[in-house]
Amino acid sequence: MRSLEGKVALVTGSSSGIGQGIAEKFAQEGARVVINYSRSAEGGDATLAMVRQAGSDGVIVQADVTKMDDIRRLIDAAYDSFGTLDILVNNAGMEKKASFTEVLEADYDQVMAVNMKGPFFLTQYFVQNLQNAKKPGRIINISSVHEDMAFPGFTSYCMSKGGMRMFTRNLAVELGPMNITINNIAPGAIRTPINTKLLEDKDKLDALLKNIPLNRLGTTDDVAELAAFLASDRAAYVTGSTYVVDGGLMRNYHEQ
Ligand code: BGC
Repeated sequence: MRSLEGKVALVTGSSSGIGQGIAEKFAQEGARVVINYSRSAEGGDATLAMVRQAGSDGVIVQADVTKMDDIRRLIDAAYDSFGTLDILVNNAGMEKKASFTEVLEADYDQVMAVNMKGPFFLTQYFVQNLQNAKKPGRIINISSVHEDMAFPGFTSYCMSKGGMRMFTRNLAVELGPMNITINNIAPGAIRTPINTKLLEDKDKLDALLKNIPLNRLGTTDDVAELAAFLASDRAAYVTGSTYVVDGGLMRNYHEQ
C-alpha cells in the first residue's frame, strides 16, 4: 500500500521548487493535495497536472499565508473539497539579501511574515480543526540549514528559520498529547527558484560546490522523500526535531 493512501495534505507554496516536489511525491504516495500559490497561477496548474499524473487528485487555492482570512480559506478548502486535512506542510518561504546595515524595514517585515507568521497561524488553525474532530495530525516545516548555520547578508532569513526551530520544539511538547507530530526539514542548497541568482553565477556556484561533500546541489526529490516519510505512519514516534538534507554542507570544514 502507498504510504499516504487516504490522507489529505496541504502544501503551502507548492507552485514551484521544494513545495511542488513535495506535492508530487505525496500524490505518488496516494495523498490528495491542496496546492497553494501566492502569485504563480501557472505554477499551481503545473503542480495539479503532476498530482493527477501521479494518479491522485488536488485542488488549487490562491492565498497569501501572511493574511488571516487567506489562512482560514486555505484550510477550509481542504475540508470543503476532501472532508478532512491530515498533513500540513509549511513550505512557503522567502529570503532577501542585504548587508545588515542596509536592511529595509519593509523587507524585514515581509520575511518575518512569510517565514514565521504564516506557519504560526496556519498551524494554529490546522490544530484547532484537528482538535474539534479529535483526530491526529502531522506538521512538517521546511526550514533551512540556516536555522543553525550563519549566512551573512541574510540575517532576517536566518532569524526566521531559527524561530521556526523553536516553534517546532515548543509545539512538539504542546501538541504531543493530541497525537499531533511536528518536525522540521532543513534543506541545504537545492536546485530551486530561490537560488536562481546563484545558479546563474558559475563562480559562486563552484565555490558553493566545494563546501558540499556530496559535490552536487540537492534536488527537490531529495527533500520530498524525507517529507513523505515524516508524513507517513512510519514516522509515528518522530516529533520535535530537525532533519538536515544538505549533502554534508553543514558538517563541512576543511583547511587548504
Ligand atoms: C537558502 C539558499 C542557500 C542555501 C545554502 C537555503 O536555505 O535559501 O539561498 O543557497 O540555504 O546556503
